[in-house]
Amino acid sequence: YLNYHVPRTRREILEILLKGLRRLEYRGYDSAGVGIDGGNSKDWESNARSIQLIKQRGKVKALDEEIHKQQDIDLDVEFDVHSGIAHTRWATHGEPSPVNSHPQRSDKNNEFIVIHNGIITNYKDLKKFLESKGYEFESETDTESIAKLVKYMYDNRESDDISFATLVERVTQQLEGAFALVFKSVHYPGEVVGTRRGGPLLIGVRSDHKLSSDHIPVLYRSCSYKLQHPTQDRPGHLSLYACFIRVSKIKRLMWFLICHDSAVIEHTNRVIFLEDDDVAAVMDGRLSIHRIKRTAGDYPARAIQTLQMELQQIMMGNYSSFMQKEIFEQPESVVNTMRGRVNFDNNTVTLGGLKDHIKEIQRCRRLILIACGTSYHAGVATRQVLEELTELPVMVELASDFLDRNTPVFRDDVCFFISQSGETADSLMALHYCKERGALTVGITNTVGSSISRETDCGVHINAGPEIGVASTKAYTSQFVALIMFALLMCDDRISVQPRRREIIQGLRVLPDLIKEVLSLDDEIQKLATELYQQKSVLIMGRGYHYATCLEGALKIKEITYMHSEGILAGELKHGPLALVDKLMPVIMIIMRDHTYVKCQNALQQVVARQGRPIVICDKEDHETIKTSSRTIKVPHCVDCLQGILSVIPLQLLSFHLAVLRGYDVDCPRNLAKSVTVE
Ligand code: F6R
Repeated sequence: YLNYHVPRTRREILEILLKGLRRLEYRGYDSAGVGIDGGNSKDWESNARSIQLIKQRGKVKALDEEIHKQQDIDLDVEFDVHSGIAHTRWATHGEPSPVNSHPQRSDKNNEFIVIHNGIITNYKDLKKFLESKGYEFESETDTESIAKLVKYMYDNRESDDISFATLVERVTQQLEGAFALVFKSVHYPGEVVGTRRGGPLLIGVRSDHKLSSDHIPVLYRSCSYKLQHPTQDRPGHLSLYACFIRVSKIKRLMWFLICHDSAVIEHTNRVIFLEDDDVAAVMDGRLSIHRIKRTAGDYPARAIQTLQMELQQIMMGNYSSFMQKEIFEQPESVVNTMRGRVNFDNNTVTLGGLKDHIKEIQRCRRLILIACGTSYHAGVATRQVLEELTELPVMVELASDFLDRNTPVFRDDVCFFISQSGETADSLMALHYCKERGALTVGITNTVGSSISRETDCGVHINAGPEIGVASTKAYTSQFVALIMFALLMCDDRISVQPRRREIIQGLRVLPDLIKEVLSLDDEIQKLATELYQQKSVLIMGRGYHYATCLEGALKIKEITYMHSEGILAGELKHGPLALVDKLMPVIMIIMRDHTYVKCQNALQQVVARQGRPIVICDKEDHETIKTSSRTIKVPHCVDCLQGILSVIPLQLLSFHLAVLRGYDVDCPRNLAKSVTVE
């Protein structure tokens, strides 16, 4: 631990906090807040005896402006030591407003403040209890009950030397639900305490000197405290996103408690992933981690790990939005997914993350792919080739529905959890459900160290690089490729499928170049968008390998353009959706030269017969379709089971251009956030 007393001004401290928030803004952007030391004297410790809270509705920019309006904050005051906490919020319960923003406080004097990601399901009980003790609530959030509870613990402490970490531990014993929390208090100057259960929390460390160890020991100490609860009453949801905190004893040693590594990558690439129920305290420049008891599989130390992420990966570069950048990154991101895994010369696939379990997977009774949103579509897109190459029944499930149905799961099932973030609450809960039933669990995630990647028995990291745009694009195509690689691995010793395997592997070899070719259609698609952007609705039809493209294209259009869009299985057209078709309804059809070609042509005729004038995404060599359609988007040909990667990209581009033309913020669609850590 280093002890260079190089002071920082409050302006610099706020800038670090706000910059961290900006990096996390894509995870929630309806309001933001910051809690910093309040005094304006020369003595940091007396400054830390008061806390200044500044909160604002809207983006971090609005918070920044609000900070600069504050008359009583002297931005030039210097601190030897400072702890500050900050948060951006994504509300699902309690409207976005300064009072509902975080940090939440214990009382009007801001004795304790807290930021929270997740939901406290028993907050109404806690609130009732605290109100009966005279605590007055001001917000609609569940988090406020945590802030009040920690004060209650403090006010009712049995001795004056009780530590902040012990108070927090007592608080967490009363909480039900999922959370990552960071606390700050006027009673514990210069100190912060963080803990997690079900939500991610990392600690970044920046030191100009080598740390004496790359492991932080965990102390196990018993501390139990019982609070008498009134009866249970389940609340609605309130969800918050993204926390960031900085503690600096000195300029050269900084600790960051963060929910995602992108918040600190410009300061450090050294991080510690906390486990559920770890209580981490930073005090006097030191980090200590403790937990109540050691559980099976728990290591008595937390390793300081080195992140592979580079700052430029989370910068927008020359693009107008992260989404656009990520769409155009796909030729490289699919290569990164395959790197070191697919050998194109001898047609082999190696997936290190599955090697200890592949035999068991090959013996299983069925595969269940579980996910939400776009990640679910990656499962739909690859189901057919998985069925073909594994000869196993493959179920593809939306995590929420899978849980609602109490779906039977057996010990000889293998359950896949596909998730870009690795933190989606529905998928995580489905993972717990499958583990309880003894199934083998496999993670397909883009986030190393995420809950899903840590809690599954084995898995594949898709290595697409950070995805910041709320609308998922490159993660989809990389999930797609990862699942194809898995299918190939499953049948690598079956002689009868070798020609098919070779065909697919050679398809993977040319895929990056074909993606580049599709991306070169950007101008043409932008032009199409100018013709469509004032429409209310777009229907997207296809079947077979391209049904997933229809669902995914429609989801992209809905979420960033706010237009109505529906992905329709062309085989179902005559069972209802055809009624929507007339000469005014914009229709996009996907027709590729695979085993569904003739049926797709029939669907095209059915639409044309109702005066529909579909825009057809088709194979550039398909002269018949090109000749008979009034409008086509021509993509290169690829092996059938990979063609869905090429058919979805025009729709990613279309949704992007539609959103721009409609004047919307592409990266921050209303009501959405990147990582959905609430049920
Ligand atoms: C849509 C989108 C969402 C996510 C879904 C699951 O563009 O991004 O539908 O796919 O919320 O998120 P992950 O993959 O992080 O589990």
